[in-house]
Amino acid sequence: MKYAIRTQLTFLIAFVFLALIFFFMITGAIALYFGLNETIDQQLAIESKRMTELFESEYCDLLVETGDNRKLLRDEFVEDLNEMCQYKHQFVLFSLTTNNGRRVYSGGELKNIQLLLSKVLFTLQDGCYNQRFNGRFYRVYINRKGWGRLILGMENETFFEVVDEFKEIFLIGIPIILVLIYLGGKFLARRAMRPVVATAETADKMSLTNLEQRFFEYNKNDEFGILTKTLNNMLARLETGIRRIQQFTQDAAHELRTPLTILRGELELLYQQSDLSEEYQSALQKALDRTIILNKIVDDLMLLAQSDSGQYPLHKTSFCLDQVIKETLEDVKILGESYPIEVVLSQCDEIEFWGDEQLIRRLFLNLADNALKYTQQGRIDFSLKSQNNEIEIKISDTGIGIPEEDLPHIFDRFYRVDKARTTAKGGSGLGLSISKWIVEAHDGQIQIESTLSTGTVITITFPQS
Ligand SMILES: Nc1ncnc2c1ncn2[C@@H]1O[C@H](COP(=O)(O)OP(=O)(O)OP(=O)(O)O)[C@@H](O)[C@H]1O
Ligand SMILES: [Mg+2]
Repeated sequence: MKYAIRTQLTFLIAFVFLALIFFFMITGAIALYFGLNETIDQQLAIESKRMTELFESEYCDLLVETGDNRKLLRDEFVEDLNEMCQYKHQFVLFSLTTNNGRRVYSGGELKNIQLLLSKVLFTLQDGCYNQRFNGRFYRVYINRKGWGRLILGMENETFFEVVDEFKEIFLIGIPIILVLIYLGGKFLARRAMRPVVATAETADKMSLTNLEQRFFEYNKNDEFGILTKTLNNMLARLETGIRRIQQFTQDAAHELRTPLTILRGELELLYQQSDLSEEYQSALQKALDRTIILNKIVDDLMLLAQSDSGQYPLHKTSFCLDQVIKETLEDVKILGESYPIEVVLSQCDEIEFWGDEQLIRRLFLNLADNALKYTQQGRIDFSLKSQNNEIEIKISDTGIGIPEEDLPHIFDRFYRVDKARTTAKGGSGLGLSISKWIVEAHDGQIQIESTLSTGTVITITFPQS
């Protein structure tokens, strides 16, 4: 399963944070280890230097050579040593031995000190060493001289104590750190993805009716800013192109309108002349019918072009919807007189409606016209009701119906199910797309259900104003 980019970013940020914490902890531990060693080594070196200097200046020759008052001298040396060495009490190992094997002074709290000494003596070079003994760590300093050797040792457990303490804190703190990193990561990821979500929302709202809409450019200099800027430039170019096409359709329809009206008027005038032969009259009748169809197509195209560009002037007023339905029904009854069709109004609630009355009339006429055109016999039923803050209008017929595969395209412009059957009745396939636009211009919805050879039901809902 693919995770959302936001989730992937959250985990990536959390991982980077954790890796950084571990990196700083490990480098910190290494620095602490070497730092502590250096401090101990310095103390050991200073003390060793003091002790050997003291020993060499006053006691070396006497202790090596004379044997009688050795004990007295040694006590004196130890006394001097105690006075001089401020860190002496920290030494767990202390051994000063002369070459002839005499131990001048040795001490320390460690048990089995000889064992540790024997380990250290194997080292060939002088200096500081780490020595593990009885499960603990020691830093041992060995300094060999012409007269003998001095060995000093200090505990080197501070580092491990710090690490142990840190481990405890870390074990308690890690769940809290993890939660904080996760929440922080989530916050950062959400912030980073905010422009993407906002852009997707804007893109979702874009349509032919709001071509001037543009994406918000968050940060003009980052990659996303560059992308939105490029997209906005592309939208501007598309808008110019689409506006040109819309204007062309509108202009073409406008230019065709006047000559067609004149043509229709002249044909009507000719048709009314009584001295025409039957043949001429029939030809004139056909020409007149075709001109009327052309006139309707040009009108429809004009309206669609204006609706696309958002230039159609909606004249909204308050009017009685039930009255408009009733009047439409009267027209339909007259038109359907010659067919064996019953036109009924099964329900008609009184409803005050806010909208463009002319357009609503056109909507009902379009749908009624379809119902009449595509119903050979049977019944056409109108109903208007108000329920649950909604106005519902249903127009159902017992006509030829629409095949299931055509239903998804039925609101497309110039879409006709069967061109042969429609042309005979003069349809151009624009009626339903105009109806859909009228419904949506009034914040409504239109649905169509149909079964072949059984009939069609159109349902329109408007929010109650
Ligand atoms: N009530 C209906 N019963 C059966 N078919 C229908 C019905 N209403 C629409 N149709 C089918 O849907 C197609 C599109 O309808 P639409 O109203 O858009 O165009 P039209 O009626 O052919 O032409 P126009 O309405 O522009 O004069 C029609 O050609 C017809 O095949
Ligand atoms: Mg129609």
